[in-house]
Amino acid sequence: MPNIISIVNQKGGTGKTTTTINFAAALAELGKRVLIVDFDPQGNASSGVGVLVNEETKGIYEVLTDKADIHDVIMESVVKNLFVLPTNQSLAGATIELVDMEDREYRLKKALEKLVDFDFVLIDCPPSLGLLTINSLVASNYVLIPVQCEYYALEGLGQLLKTIQLIKDNLQPNLEILGVLLTMHDRRIKLSEEVVSEVRTKFPFRVFESIIPRNVRLAEAPSFGKSILQYASWSKGARAYRSLGKEALDVINKINLENSQQKVKTIYAK
Ligand SMILES: Nc1ncnc2c1ncn2[C@@H]1O[C@H](COP(=O)(O)OP(=O)(O)O)[C@@H](O)[C@H]1O
Ligand SMILES: [Mg+2]
Repeated sequence: MPNIISIVNQKGGTGKTTTTINFAAALAELGKRVLIVDFDPQGNASSGVGVLVNEETKGIYEVLTDKADIHDVIMESVVKNLFVLPTNQSLAGATIELVDMEDREYRLKKALEKLVDFDFVLIDCPPSLGLLTINSLVASNYVLIPVQCEYYALEGLGQLLKTIQLIKDNLQPNLEILGVLLTMHDRRIKLSEEVVSEVRTKFPFRVFESIIPRNVRLAEAPSFGKSILQYASWSKGARAYRSLGKEALDVINKINLENSQQKVKTIYAK
């Protein structure tokens, strides 16, 4: 089974899509087979890796509503080992349609369960805590939260943590917070440093050592349909996302090791 990671923050513009694309590209560069699920009706994650959709392109909406099989809508990206489950405009209406459906919170989970040939699935969530994001969290075993280095960085995170806890308690007990990723950090600005230390002291879960700098190359890359690793391989932004890729693999290995040790302990205790 792949590691499934929701990239979530209900605030817009915190770097979710940028992180999904470039974290995915970093994992792919490390030899992992990675699928991006473009779960924001805006479709920026698809176009950001050169996957262009038109009105006829089937995507995640058709998968959620049983109009297409997941294997038939996955597309190859411009990056080796990196694939995309694209979105189209119909996803915007899916929330309303889903409300009356059976298993409305489990639709994405059921679709992703059919996938066997991926190491990682990264889900680019929309900026809300609505039914799409809930589907994403229920389908995931990890959550990564991009937080912009700005005033009120932690604002709204309490609500997000509560939602995650509710989902853990009721719908997906294996959901774990992989960590907060600090984004758009500017070393020249004192506020950025203050946000880093505030988040590190106040956030009750892991904060990644890797920090994503504000880097114009990261903002430019999507308009060329490339990840930062293809667009500006030696830029600060590319180095930061490579560092995140390695760090995340280490963290996941550690969590898996701890979980299996825990399992062994419970077996012996019986
Ligand atoms: N590290 C960064 N440096 C510079 N610009 C960035 C960086 N991360 C994101 N951006 C830009 O900021 C805007 C919001 O980022 P995006 O990833 O789309 O956020 P979200 O998906 O959370 O709404 C985009 O225009 C993006 O290109
Ligand atoms: Mg986005």
